[in-house]
Amino acid sequence: MTEIRTPRLVLRRWLDDDLVPLSEIHADPVVMQGIGDGRPRSPEQTAEDIEAWEEEWDEEGFGMFAVELLGSGELAGAVGLSVADAPAEVAGQVAISWRLGRAFWGQGYASEAAHATLEFALQDRGLDRVVAVRRTGDSASANVLDKLGMQAEGTAQHPVHGYEVVVHGIDLTQYQE
Ligand SMILES: CC(C)(COP(=O)(O)OP(=O)(O)OC[C@H]1O[C@@H](n2cnc3c(N)ncnc32)[C@H](O)[C@@H]1OP(=O)(O)O)[C@@H](O)C(=O)NCCC(=O)NCCS
Repeated sequence: MTEIRTPRLVLRRWLDDDLVPLSEIHADPVVMQGIGDGRPRSPEQTAEDIEAWEEEWDEEGFGMFAVELLGSGELAGAVGLSVADAPAEVAGQVAISWRLGRAFWGQGYASEAAHATLEFALQDRGLDRVVAVRRTGDSASANVLDKLGMQAEGTAQHPVHGYEVVVHGIDLTQYQE
């Protein structure tokens, strides 16, 4: 069972008990405005997300981590890896993404989890490249990407949702712990 400990967090696979707290995070329109179609996700959709992430773990050996606070055991959100299906510029490549409950913003948790995830991807899993796709104007994600050393490589249009995105990437050769 893959589990990563950072100074303040545990990154782990999903448990049944995560459904309620993740559903609460997914019910927040402010959290969800930069994800997918920009709308909150129901508990049923959240259960499908967790199932899909677990399937990806089983099939690919990587996936979205449940991010738990080491001190309190609270679920802060989801950070991890998935094979991107859109936009075409990154389809089939491994993408890193993040979403934390609003109560957990502004404390460095997203960056702490993302650093550990990038190290897991490039050093543990042996991937030679990781990409990220953020909405133009998502300055919080731009800040995280900057701290990860993931440079902007261009813009694209999301084929389903229509908005403009910025594509970021990092190759193993550029990666510095
Ligand atoms: C994107 C998102 C995960 C970023 O979270 P975040 O909390 O802003 O990101 P960080 O973990 O980098 O923390 C930011 C700030 O915490 C502060 N901070 C407080 N304590 C800290 C600590 N101990 N260590 C580091 N930073 C700390 C810092 O000021 C830091 O800002 P800085 O980089 O300018 O110094 C969050 O805004 C989110 O979930 N958004 C909604 C979902 C979303 O849109 N996801 C993107 C779609 S892919």
